[in-house]
Amino acid sequence: MGFNIAIDGPAGAGKSTIARRTAQELSFIYVDTGALYRALAVFLVDEGISPEDTEKVGEAVKSVKVSIAYENGEQQVLVNGKNVTSRLRAEAVGNMASRVSAIPAVRAALLDLQRDLAKAHDVLMDGRDIGTNVLPEAELKIYLTASVETRAERRYKELQEKGEKKDFSAIKEEIEKRDYQDMTRAIAPLKQAEDAVYLDTSHMNIDEVVEAIKKLYRERK
Ligand code: C5P
Repeated sequence: MGFNIAIDGPAGAGKSTIARRTAQELSFIYVDTGALYRALAVFLVDEGISPEDTEKVGEAVKSVKVSIAYENGEQQVLVNGKNVTSRLRAEAVGNMASRVSAIPAVRAALLDLQRDLAKAHDVLMDGRDIGTNVLPEAELKIYLTASVETRAERRYKELQEKGEKKDFSAIKEEIEKRDYQDMTRAIAPLKQAEDAVYLDTSHMNIDEVVEAIKKLYRERK
């Protein structure tokens, strides 16, 4: 049984950057669970299945095999053996993931994979329901968040650096919509676990957040 760190929080809080860095510094395996939902979303998009057709989505995901591998320390996600990692960050895929992640069969399809990884290794896993649902016994739980304004600014800068132009208010609106979807769904909604440490990163840089998590780990190990 490994030491498990669960990091949950809303879209754009910097979870993956921080989780990746912290895991590397602690020599933990980093599991980006959003990527698993995104991988199923890629599959559904390719199959032309509508997120509204919950029955069809449920049927389809039952026969899909999602697995992960690591290439130069980077998580790769495979769907039925095919590496779909390069397609995961597309906006349409993120939106599809957010919509279908509310369907119980979708969550069930990914649960064992996540738990098996945590059993076998020291893992730092990030997502929306890791501390509340996937790894309720995790030794350290963090709820990582930042104001909507800050998250939208970060996303705006990130897109700018990639040379993509997008209206700030449109980004902010999308973040609010995603928050709403993730926090109000009936099954495994995004919320802070009772025993999670609340970390608001609005006024912290990446180094400070990584240090804060490492300090919490040292206190608990
Ligand atoms: O974190 P990321 O933006 O990659 O996640 C994409 C979507 O997958 C989220 O909006 C959320 O709806 C869903 N998700 C989830 N549970 C997780 C991780 C992600 O429902 N543990």
